[in-house]
This record gives sequence, structure tokens and C-alpha cells, in this order.
Amino acid sequence: MSDLYARHRRVLPDWLALYYEEPLEITHGEGRYVWGADGTRYLDFFGGILTTMTAHALPEVTKAVSEQAGRIVHSSTLYLNRPMVELAERIAQLSGIPDARVFFTTSGTEANDTALLLATTHRRSNTILAMRNSYHGRSFSAVGITGNRGWSPTSLSPLQTLYVHGGVRGRGPFARLSDEAFIAACVDDLEDLLGHTRPPAALIAEPVQGVGGFTSPPDGLYAAFREVLHERGILWIADEVQTGWGRTGDHFWGWQAHGRSGPPDIVTFAKGIGNGTSIGGVIARAEIMNCLDANSISTFGGTQLTMAAGLANLTYLLEHDLQGNARRVGGLLIERLRAVAAHDPGIREVRGRGLMIGVELTRPGTDTADPDRATAVLEAARAGGLLIGKGGGHDTSALRIAPPLTLTVAEAEEGAAILETALRNTQ
Ligand SMILES: Cc1ncc(COP(=O)(O)O)c(C=O)c1O
Repeated sequence: MSDLYARHRRVLPDWLALYYEEPLEITHGEGRYVWGADGTRYLDFFGGILTTMTAHALPEVTKAVSEQAGRIVHSSTLYLNRPMVELAERIAQLSGIPDARVFFTTSGTEANDTALLLATTHRRSNTILAMRNSYHGRSFSAVGITGNRGWSPTSLSPLQTLYVHGGVRGRGPFARLSDEAFIAACVDDLEDLLGHTRPPAALIAEPVQGVGGFTSPPDGLYAAFREVLHERGILWIADEVQTGWGRTGDHFWGWQAHGRSGPPDIVTFAKGIGNGTSIGGVIARAEIMNCLDANSISTFGGTQLTMAAGLANLTYLLEHDLQGNARRVGGLLIERLRAVAAHDPGIREVRGRGLMIGVELTRPGTDTADPDRATAVLEAARAGGLLIGKGGGHDTSALRIAPPLTLTVAEAEEGAAILETALRNTQ
């Protein structure tokens, strides 16, 4: 055990899990590569859990952060903050939500917590609809709407949560149905559920479930849900913490795969927008955002430093059409991985879109999850010079591949070749 690992174990919580038999200390990065403390270079296909969204040490972001740090880092929300107003204006416009207001937080958890506060206050209801296999954060309220056993340390909650079908296309009671029939069955179930409960405040859903292993419903499910919810005044919260900013390639927001009835009532975001600096936030129509009748601040939310990073990062993302890059390079990568899967009976599914790709591993010839192989593939990929992630329900048997959105075709090829070898060597 390395000295740093021993110190980590002595002083940090046991439940703060580390990847790898021999945990890795990353000391620096550039572009899509990072370096370990021993000097080994790795191609990074996980971006610190989809958070280094654009690139490591992106000069434009580094420059904006260092210039801002030389002026002022933080002044609090008691004073006007130009970069915060500018970023809010840009996000409000990109959201498609009419008369949108933006509130900045420091994390996805805090963003979802705020969305729950707004929805429950606005609707005067503490009942929330959430998806099975979901993850929305680590706070007491966010854990209460997390439909993933592995990330639910308590069932105590300020909220009453009802879990809805549909977040996972390939498993569960409706898996064998066609897309159309799957959506109809989920909508029937939702309507039936609503007939038995007090009126909920909102439905919260990740368009593509992140921690859950990059699972998603057929396109259109949330639009169909939205119609049912809308009739009853129930709000739709899209948790875009992993799926926002073009990550899914086809769309700027993940909800747009379902969007025929317009944008959600509330959108939450975090992770990638700050390219590693701590930005989270909530976007909602003014009538919802302004429903609180007491003060509420997030001391570190929207500091000049993080807002400068967010502005530089967003500008780079849009000017370089990284959504288009995610679609093109992600499309090549997913095809490559599907070709590998065709010869590997332990790969149940290669799924996802853009640069958000899941590879679900099962014991060959069965539907039984294979978390041991997922762990082995992670180790083998690292040995080959590639970092990937894993996820899934309580089984953690899906590999998660989510490189920075500037990934080049050559890097996609390099990563796919390493992963192919790792999969072959763990069969
Ligand atoms: C979809 C989703 N929502 C919320 C969160 C919580 O974000 P944070 O860890 O920044 O609090 C995460 C984190 O993984 C997430 O994936």
C-alpha cells in the first residue's frame, strides 16, 4: 500500500470508494491525457466523472481562471457579480425555458436540492416521483429520491418518493416490449400510480442515467410523461448534471430527445460546465424560481472564479461545436465497441449516445451481472494506459466511457484498441 493510500485510509471516510487495487494519484493533465504520480500517462475516458468536460488544462479556461484569481475570487451574492450575470444570461438563453431564472450552486447535489425545495414549495406537496435506478446526489434530500440501492445510505427522508418505471430500457418488466409499447406501459403505470397518491410536486429524471450505467428509456418517454404530468400541474425536473452541454451529441440537453412538448419546468446542471471548477445550478421559469418567501443563498455558488471558468469553457464549447464532435467521434467509438461486442458473449449491451457510452457486462449466456469482470476490465484498461469508469444499479457491471468532448478520432481509436484488449484479456 502506498504511503498516500495509507494516509487516505486513516483520515478519510471508508465509504469514499477509490478505483483500482492500487489507487491512482493523478498529478496533472493536458487535453485528453492525465499523468500518474509515477509518470505514467493515461488516456482519460472518464474526465473525473464527466466533469473535465472540455479538456484538461484547456488554455482558455486556465487563462480566464488565473486572470480572475488575480482580480477577485469571491465577493458573495450580496454584491453585483458581472461574470455571474453573464453566465446566467447565456444559460437562460440556451435553456429554451421561457422567462428563465438561473441560480448557481456549488454541486449537482445542491442544484437538485434547490430544485426539490422549489418544486415542493411551489406545489405545496412533499411527494416526488423519481425513476428507478436513478442518482441525484448525496444530501439528505437527494438520497431520498435516489433509486439506486448502492447509493442510498438511508431510507429516512423529508420527501415521500414514488419510483416510476422507464429509466432502464433493457431490463425490468417491460424490457421485452417494443419501444412504443414500452412507453405506453410506463405511461399506464404512471397514470395508475397517480390515481392512488396525493398530488406529487414533481417528477425528477436524468435523461440518460449516469451512475445507473448510462441507461435510458426510448426517446419520447419523458414527453409522454410530461403530457400526463402537465394535465395535473405536476412539474418535470430534468437532471442534466451528466447529460447537458452537448455530451449526448444529438442534443444540447438530454431532455431534447424527448422534447416534443417543450422544455422541462426545471433543469439542473453541474459537472462539466465548470470544466472541473465547482459550478452547479438550477434553471426555472420565474414563477417557480421566485416562489420562495424567505432569503436563500449559496455562499460559494457563482463565485467570480468559477463563473470566469464557466464562461470561458462555454464559449470554447460553442465556438468549437463540441456537441457535433461528441456526435461524430462518439458515433465512431460506439460502432467500434459494438463490433467488439459482437465477438464477446459477456457483453450484454453497448448503449448510449454521443460521448456517453455504457458497456454492460453479464456472465456469458445469462442475464446475470458480472461486476467482477467490470472491475477486471477497469484494471486491464489502466494497465494498457486507459482510464474508464463503471456504474450500474446495485450490480455495478456497466463500463462507463465518457471522455472530454474534444476527443479526436485518433484518440478514440487508441482508447477503443486498449479497451478491446482489456475485454479480450478478461473473457
Ligand atoms: C445525474 C446526477 N445528478 C446529481 C449528481 C450529484 O452531483 P454532485 O456530485 O456534484 O453533488 C450526480 C453526480 O454524479 C449525477 O450524476
